[in-house]
Amino acid sequence: MGIALVSPEQSQSQLSADSIQQTITSMIDNLIASLPDPKQLTAEERRGMIARYSAVLESNFIYWMTATLLAVKAEEARPILLENLHEEVRDAHPAMLRRFSIAAHAFPTDSDSLSINEELTSMRLFLGRLSAVQSLLAMAFFEGYIQKFMPYLAELAALQGSTEMEYTDVHGVCDIAHTAGLFQAASIEMTVSPLEPEKDPYEGVTLLRDLMHKIVFYTNNKANVQ
Ligand SMILES: [Fe+2]
Repeated sequence: MGIALVSPEQSQSQLSADSIQQTITSMIDNLIASLPDPKQLTAEERRGMIARYSAVLESNFIYWMTATLLAVKAEEARPILLENLHEEVRDAHPAMLRRFSIAAHAFPTDSDSLSINEELTSMRLFLGRLSAVQSLLAMAFFEGYIQKFMPYLAELAALQGSTEMEYTDVHGVCDIAHTAGLFQAASIEMTVSPLEPEKDPYEGVTLLRDLMHKIVFYTNNKANVQ
């Protein structure tokens, strides 16, 4: 047969996968556009951002990618997640991030970890529900945001006097392919095992966006919490 036939269901799900990707990309770009100028921040504000980022990412990224792998039903989507996990473990990304935060004198304190506790817990409970499409979209948001956040994170660390940039160098590059892979995995999963129509595809994305927002905008002064 010379013509590739696409079923109406497939073209419908591709359409919605494309429009979801556009929405998530805009959510990432909006958050990046809202980042305050690092030079206008105090040293303690910069330290806090690096510390909260580390408190979230170091111990949760591999866990959350694994939760997403456990949720996925489409066989063709699994290798994309496995490859991502393989790289994380083989290259010891948590060790890389720990070196980055220690070198910037921003290893998280108990207060830093507790400042993002509520949003972090919501994200853990959400991923525990093992909802494949929602989890894949949240992880696509995560990878896309991390990649675009890297130059900013590197600038924060440099202003704190650090020259240890392996973590930000690696993630500014490899996460471009990871983000595309996760959107592809989400698109495959939406065809094989679509999300129930009454469910919000952006549920996990929104929870994660709120957590990333808290990393940047948390302040001890409750009156100024955004
Ligand atoms: Fe990583």
